[in-house]
Amino acid sequence: MDRLLRLLAALSLIHLSVATSQKPFSIIINNGNQLVVNNSAVLTGSSNSSISPIVASSSGAIANHGGQVTYRRVSPNVVKVQVDTNSSYTGARFTVPNDGLFYGVWEYPFFDQITNTNVEFDLKGLGDSEGVNWSNARAPFFITNAGYGVYADTLEMGSFDFTTSGQAQFIFNTSSLVYYIILPNRLETINQSCKKDFHDGVSNAQENYYDVINHLYYNEIRATSMFADRPYGTGNMSFGNFDLDPTFYPTPGQFIANLSDHGFDFQVWVANRAFLNTELYNDSVANDWLFPGYSAETFLGPALNLSIPAAYSYFLDRLSAFTDLGVKGYKIDRGEEEEMPVYEQNIQMSLFEQLCYENMVSKWGESNFYNFARSAVDRSRSRTAVWNGDSHSNFTGLAYSVASGIRAGLIGFSQWAVDCGGYIRGVNDPEEELWARWMHFSTFSPTYEIMIGTNHTPWYPPYTSRLVSVLKQTANLHASLLPYIKSYTYHATQTGVPIIRALFLEYPHDPKVYTTTDSYAFGEEFLVAPIVTEGGTRDVYFPSGSSYLEYINKTDVYQGGTTHPVSLEWEYVPVYVREGAIIPTGDIYQGNQRWTKWEPYLEIQAFPSYNVPASQFEYYNAVQNGTATITMVTDKREKSVIITYEDLGTPGTIIVYGKDGQRNATLTAGRGSVLFRGFVSLFGES
Ligand SMILES: *[C@@H]1O[C@H](CO)[C@@H](O)[C@H](O)[C@H]1NC(C)=O
Ligand SMILES: *[C@@H]1O[C@H](CO)[C@@H](O)[C@H](O)[C@H]1NC(C)=O
Ligand SMILES: *[C@@H]1O[C@H](CO)[C@@H](O)[C@H](O)[C@H]1NC(C)=O
Ligand SMILES: *[C@@H]1O[C@H](CO)[C@@H](O)[C@H](O)[C@H]1NC(C)=O
Ligand SMILES: *[C@@H]1O[C@H](CO)[C@@H](O)[C@H](O)[C@H]1NC(C)=O
Ligand SMILES: *[C@@H]1O[C@H](CO)[C@@H](O)[C@H](O)[C@H]1NC(C)=O
Ligand SMILES: *[C@@H]1O[C@H](CO)[C@@H](O)[C@H](O)[C@H]1NC(C)=O
Ligand SMILES: *[C@@H]1O[C@H](CO)[C@@H](O)[C@H](O)[C@H]1NC(C)=O
Ligand SMILES: *[C@@H]1O[C@H](CO)[C@@H](O)[C@H](O)[C@H]1NC(C)=O
Ligand SMILES: *[C@@H]1O[C@H](CO)[C@@H](O)[C@H](O)[C@H]1NC(C)=O
Ligand SMILES: *[C@@H]1O[C@H](CO)[C@@H](O)[C@H](O)[C@H]1NC(C)=O
Ligand SMILES: *[C@@H]1O[C@H](CO)[C@@H](O)[C@H](O)[C@H]1NC(C)=O
Repeated sequence: MDRLLRLLAALSLIHLSVATSQKPFSIIINNGNQLVVNNSAVLTGSSNSSISPIVASSSGAIANHGGQVTYRRVSPNVVKVQVDTNSSYTGARFTVPNDGLFYGVWEYPFFDQITNTNVEFDLKGLGDSEGVNWSNARAPFFITNAGYGVYADTLEMGSFDFTTSGQAQFIFNTSSLVYYIILPNRLETINQSCKKDFHDGVSNAQENYYDVINHLYYNEIRATSMFADRPYGTGNMSFGNFDLDPTFYPTPGQFIANLSDHGFDFQVWVANRAFLNTELYNDSVANDWLFPGYSAETFLGPALNLSIPAAYSYFLDRLSAFTDLGVKGYKIDRGEEEEMPVYEQNIQMSLFEQLCYENMVSKWGESNFYNFARSAVDRSRSRTAVWNGDSHSNFTGLAYSVASGIRAGLIGFSQWAVDCGGYIRGVNDPEEELWARWMHFSTFSPTYEIMIGTNHTPWYPPYTSRLVSVLKQTANLHASLLPYIKSYTYHATQTGVPIIRALFLEYPHDPKVYTTTDSYAFGEEFLVAPIVTEGGTRDVYFPSGSSYLEYINKTDVYQGGTTHPVSLEWEYVPVYVREGAIIPTGDIYQGNQRWTKWEPYLEIQAFPSYNVPASQFEYYNAVQNGTATITMVTDKREKSVIITYEDLGTPGTIIVYGKDGQRNATLTAGRGSVLFRGFVSLFGES
């Protein structure tokens, strides 16, 4: 149970000392004799290239610059530092013993790594990049494998520098900064020596959607929503008149209602960009809402300054044209393409995502829509999901996307998705094998999002029926995992711990997993090792401390601490469950499932092991908006397994997987308990 969150629980042994006098002001936190945190300097300067460490008196008065620094323990494991200076920039420096590893800040995986080794960059979006363009979730937060984390509470522009080994430094464009040092609670788990870290017959967009709906229906492929990227509206660049273009959408209201009848929500593209001659542009010019210096005559779509209340309420009001039509979510694009001063990016994206959220909540209420953004900062986590930007449609793009998913989790963006198959496509991309492999990765992502269109639709050439069957298998598996995914999504809102987890969060005792970029834990129970290279082979490392069952065939067991080569056809993905796992699956959201009678049901899959005396799963019961605990207790001597459950709100079955096959029991209404006698585990006893 050594989750990220657990790093955030109490520890009483910490001793905090502050060095001041003539030396740079520093905050040293020790646990007994062991150094835990070395906040070796607080930085300030009048420009961002003239920063220097402050020297402070014991009262915290800054001697060499003017201003004040204060620090206090605000909870047993959190130290709050407040820096108020007379200079324009403030920041801090932290050191860890050599070859320490730093994680976080950016979703983008610089150099295909989950750590920040050798990275120096601003807290802003980045564009043209290897593997994936515009992979832009970010947060002023990092953690180290020394066990502590640092969070700077600001939306101002910041620069982070990890290029010096064992050192992290940040500086923000602000004269007042609050940052928090978050201490580890279980220092014994931190091993100081383990730091090595459109188609035939279709004439407009509406008809194209119907064509997709019909193909999904006849192939019995599960889906829940459709979205329109640009172009979909009238006017220059197809955005800014707050409408759907009648050429593409002759009857938009009827169209969206029809989609809804078929079980689909509908979302549209939006951005804070005013394209020349659109209503958004003309009204913004008349009111002086655009950032100065970005004339639409020369620049493609400047941004509105949403810090101006009238600009904010205008945009909010105009978006109701979409909600009135029945639109249930936005794909929120851009915000980091130089349409505003760079130091405004974080502030403006937060405001835009806030207004998109407010618009949706006012029409549909909380939880009844889906917004997802490319450029999302820290405080917007509860306002929008993210997608990882414009991934390249090749195996490099897939590998970088897996790494960026892990990194998004490390900065607390749990609700994450990737354009399945990649966004930046040539005529023949994605190749069929790549797309199949990518579908498996999307299955074990919080959201399975796929971009289809001319020449890129699985049921039309150049693709074959083999790909359609992989799409069906993976989309339907993802749908059946919804009880599991939804539970973890709920937990993420309560604890901040993401669904896609860097392996070191689940297996902190295993020094081999601290730099793993190509496999991850999906929740606590799954180990996922997507195939990110052509040809279908890879090695899978099984973290120590558990045994694992291959999840698709459910026959092969692997011991922790070992590495095994796998070689798999497109129909398979290396995915495993831990011994003792309880996995709630089933069918709890109808979506487009109209081909047979639909009723919700749960299928609680359990994988008992006598090596795991007790395990549990906190199921999120959406019917009652609460959690229900499922517990499994094994008794090695009695050869028995008992599963008890609180009210799960939906009828169903418990399936227990053992050496002699499956055994089933019906879930009773309300709470219940089942005893399986003479049980032979799939996992060897140790
Ligand atoms: C903290 O880090 C600074 C800079 O690396 C170093 O000079 C200092 O000795 C360290 N303090 C401790 C207590 O290790
Ligand atoms: C810093 O600013 C404060 C408030 O403006 C002022 O009282 C103080 O004298 C300044 N200190 C220095 C050293 O400039
Ligand atoms: C993104 O990727 C494509 C293909 O690699 C490239 O041509 C393009 O210039 C990139 N940059 C941006 C900013 O879109
Ligand atoms: C520091 O200055 C550079 C160059 O002007 C700029 O790109 C960067 O965003 C600045 N960093 C901060 C924190 O303002
Ligand atoms: C810092 O922010 C201010 C606005 O608060 C802006 O005028 C200035 O240009 C920014 N500095 C940099 C280097 O971006
Ligand atoms: C710490 O790591 C070293 C080397 O990687 C290993 O030999 C040792 O067993 C680990 N200790 C613990 C307590 O995990
Ligand atoms: C509603 O959607 C279905 C898609 O299956 C389509 O065939 C039908 O023509 C649509 N009806 C209207 C009125 O658009
Ligand atoms: C669309 O916007 C671009 C750039 O802002 C501008 O150059 C172009 O003239 C505009 N086109 C129309 C039809 O308004
Ligand atoms: C993937 O495409 C990018 C450009 O979009 C290219 O730079 C990279 O080399 C390609 N990778 C592979 C494995 O072909
Ligand atoms: C599952 O079994 C099939 C048929 O034996 C085999 O082809 C496939 O590779 C197996 N999949 C995994 C993940 O082991
Ligand atoms: C679910 O419960 C939480 C409090 O636990 C509450 O904040 C939230 O609004 C509830 N959601 C719904 C849809 O009732
Ligand atoms: C157990 O239930 C599953 C799914 O509900 C079904 O496929 C399987 O045949 C059942 N097995 C037994 C032994 O009843």
